[in-house]
Amino acid sequence: MSSTSSSIRSQTAANPQHSFLRDVIAGLSESRKTLPSKYFYDQKGCQLFDQICQLPEYYPTRTELAIMDLHASEMAACLGENNALIEFGSGSSMKTQILLSELEGLLAYVPLDIAPSYLHESTQRLQQRNPQLKIIPVCADFTADWQLPDEVYEADHRTFYFPGSTIGNLKPPQAVRLLQHIRHAGHPSGGLLLGVDRKKSVDIIEAAYNDAAGVTAAFNLNLLSRINRQLDGNFALDQFVHHAFYDAERGRMEMHLVSQLAHEVQIAGQTFHFAKDESIRTELSHKYSLQDIQQMATAADMDVAQVWSDSQDWFSVFYMQF
Ligand code: TRP
Repeated sequence: MSSTSSSIRSQTAANPQHSFLRDVIAGLSESRKTLPSKYFYDQKGCQLFDQICQLPEYYPTRTELAIMDLHASEMAACLGENNALIEFGSGSSMKTQILLSELEGLLAYVPLDIAPSYLHESTQRLQQRNPQLKIIPVCADFTADWQLPDEVYEADHRTFYFPGSTIGNLKPPQAVRLLQHIRHAGHPSGGLLLGVDRKKSVDIIEAAYNDAAGVTAAFNLNLLSRINRQLDGNFALDQFVHHAFYDAERGRMEMHLVSQLAHEVQIAGQTFHFAKDESIRTELSHKYSLQDIQQMATAADMDVAQVWSDSQDWFSVFYMQF
């Protein structure tokens, strides 16, 4: 490993177990129960998510990868030189290597993710393939407070990379707020390369979240096992069923775990009652039109400079200039 590879800088809560418990109790105490999706990504969850990305039904990853393969050199030309590249929700950084191979004179790469296991592995792999690159991994929740390392302000431009349509997992007002935060952190010069899953036929979208092999169901249910393991919960995993459907009016997928019978669950000594067919909503995944994204960019004071899409318009990568 190169000496430039630094250890992970953590910006997560001082006591992560404490915030996990607090968020779980708050979500399950609502009249319509929810759990925050950021807690999907423990080590097991990261492995399952990587499997989701390879499922035949899960079109977003391979569609976005194909767009990157075809257009990465044009993207690099848009970004210019002497950049710092900051990636949000970097995960296993699969698409990043395509971009890194095209970018010249990159000052630093800052992968920012909530999952230390993802950050550790992807930093090691990228460092091996790019020995000269300065990698500064930051463990943070991009929906909460985050700060960029000082080093990125030594570059002429700050380029943000937010692939995977992870923006769709935020509600639209939150998504706009994050774009505004990014715009502010990028000051005075930079841009955002944003991967977005487009609106399309309901069947195609729903299949992506209801795979035949049941990996998505296992991923969803792993959230309950994590609560059992880390927060002394007693969810019976066979009492909950994965349910994912498209809400056309809101343009979003909803992921739920539905209780099969009336029962009670204990978590850290507290009791939660479930009615038969009561569900916990665990994730939202918004699908956007070009216009929707254009409006968000405007609200965040960014200019859409380029859009690359696949031939079926299933997925788009936007470059928005600050
Ligand atoms: N960002 C991914 C998406 O919305 C996350 C995801 C894929 C996901 N499959 C899931 C989240 C299943 C919860 C459940 O497409």
